[in-house]
Amino acid sequence: MIKHKRLNHWIQNIEALCKPDSVVICDGSRLEFDSMMDLLQDAGVAKQLNPSIRPNSYLVRSDQKDVARVESRTFICSEQPEDAGPTNNWADPAEMKSTLENLFKGSMTGRTMYVIPFSMGPIGSPIAHIGVEITDSPYVVASMHIMTRVSSAVLTELGEDGDYVPCIHSVGKPLDNHSDDVPWPCNPDNLYVAHFPKTREIWSFGSGYGGNALLGKKCFALRIASAMAREEGWLAEHMLILKLTNPQGVARYIAGAFPSACGKTNLAMLVPSMPDWKVETVGDDICWMKFGDDGQLYAINPEAGFFGVAPGTGMETNPNAMLSLKENCLFTNVAETDEGDIWWEGMTEEAPAHLIDWLGQDWTPESTEPAAHPNARFTVSASQCPAIAQEWQDLQGVPISAILFGGRRATVVPLVNEADSWEQGTFFGSIVSSEKTAAAAGRIGELRRDPMAMLPFCGYNMADYWQHWIHLGQQHKDQLPKIFYVNWFRKDAQGRFMWPGFGENSRVLKWIFERCEGTAEALSTPIGKLPTLDSIDFSGLNMTDEEIASLLRVEIQGWLEELPLIRDYYQQFGDKLPTELNHQLNQMQQKLEAATQSAS
Ligand code: GTP
Ligand code: SPV
Ligand code: MN
Repeated sequence: MIKHKRLNHWIQNIEALCKPDSVVICDGSRLEFDSMMDLLQDAGVAKQLNPSIRPNSYLVRSDQKDVARVESRTFICSEQPEDAGPTNNWADPAEMKSTLENLFKGSMTGRTMYVIPFSMGPIGSPIAHIGVEITDSPYVVASMHIMTRVSSAVLTELGEDGDYVPCIHSVGKPLDNHSDDVPWPCNPDNLYVAHFPKTREIWSFGSGYGGNALLGKKCFALRIASAMAREEGWLAEHMLILKLTNPQGVARYIAGAFPSACGKTNLAMLVPSMPDWKVETVGDDICWMKFGDDGQLYAINPEAGFFGVAPGTGMETNPNAMLSLKENCLFTNVAETDEGDIWWEGMTEEAPAHLIDWLGQDWTPESTEPAAHPNARFTVSASQCPAIAQEWQDLQGVPISAILFGGRRATVVPLVNEADSWEQGTFFGSIVSSEKTAAAAGRIGELRRDPMAMLPFCGYNMADYWQHWIHLGQQHKDQLPKIFYVNWFRKDAQGRFMWPGFGENSRVLKWIFERCEGTAEALSTPIGKLPTLDSIDFSGLNMTDEEIASLLRVEIQGWLEELPLIRDYYQQFGDKLPTELNHQLNQMQQKLEAATQSAS
């Protein structure tokens, strides 16, 4: 029984629109999860893995055309195009509603409509928010169980008139006859992932995969939440949260924004190579931050699980992820071993002699295509991570000392660079560019600006979002986190990564920690504060002094070439571009020019 009138009314309306055979209100129970997995196995889309190797775990193969987020079909439906801004696809809200109502009309015929009440963040946290997702996909129900907090306690928390974000999802494949169903129903030719920031609603049609369909994640926790955060004076960010403890037992919390498939999960679960330093995980993808009464910025991880990139994850690179995956997992688009277990590129050094690949075909190491899709993912409860921080569900969140911005940059951007101020840090965030990865459909490797790793996730005009960052900085001057720009992805002339990355990133984290404590040295340069050569511990890395120096060099020429590109990029935002960012750009240019003059 739902006591909430508005919610009841909405469920009835969606039922009348979508015409499902039946409606189920989800309770998040183990029984419900198991019955979803039974349905998925009967449909031939999920397969239980060998229980003696990987208990209570399943392999799911999606449709080949439904394997990643589709940014070209993602819309921000604000009143005016400039409210969405030049980096989003805008659609008129009334027109989009009418397009969607046509598509959703009868879209659940022959299927069950599931109503999933979920909390983003621990129930009762002042930073948490509630959503309700309606879906016709049992895969979405099972995934939401792991990724969010689904339970009847959410309905209790909502009471009779609490606020929730309505999220409507359909795979877009009505059934006149059950025998017509396919293992992974979807409708890629009519795909829409539409957001209505004013009414705080989400409508998603045609895909069952990841961020297109698990609407608590990118759609709610970033696009809608970023718009809420702007109105309410907080931050909804595409960031990991980690706890770093030094050998003396002092702990600090660090948040970090890196674009999709650029290392958030890996950094959040890092095993430090620095002796006696400890990293623990608070979150790996999304971070909601509010200022506390004491003026500090507090963060929660609104999610309850990890939807992590499988390829590249192994005991060498991310043992904590591998250990999290022992049982109770969903694996999507990975390969299957002859023993009934899973495998992907990078899980072990040597590939098994025979596999069934993500497409269901025989695969051997001679095959030219990867066995797992590059955006294959694991879904697992955060509580299974051996490195999970004990305070990861604290209602008040954790106080953030430092914020990192980064991307995949083969050139120019040094290993680490500390901003002189919050404003310069906002500038750094705004100019992050990164090579595109398989997390979204489209050309991989292409360099694009991905400010604050929010390019595909900002629910309003990006320039207004930067302004919001600047405003918050001005309002909360005293106890702001320090901001750093990092880059683990520099390459040498042969195209090899110059920095070993992964656990070795702890060397950089240690410097950042010590900068927060005020004990590490830094050099003022035209682009910010860089570590002195001996303030980062590079011992035992097998790197030459020249290699280290080149990771920490200020590439004056490279930056001078970058600045006009930034100016061009900024131009599209017109008057909305915060003057502070232009000022930062000009200042950097002056300093770089002065440096060339003094060098010549
Ligand atoms: P999303 O879930 O899409 O938001 O991705 P993410 O930011 O959590 O990225 P993730 O940690 O899953 O890493 C993606 C890929 O980058 C994996 O294949 C990793 O092996 C690789 N990677 C992560 N950290 C590093 C690093 O420090 N150096 C290098 N060279 N590769 C890394
Ligand atoms: C990302 O693309 O940043 C992801 C995966 O975390 S998805 O949930 O599909 O958005
Ligand atoms: Mn992500």
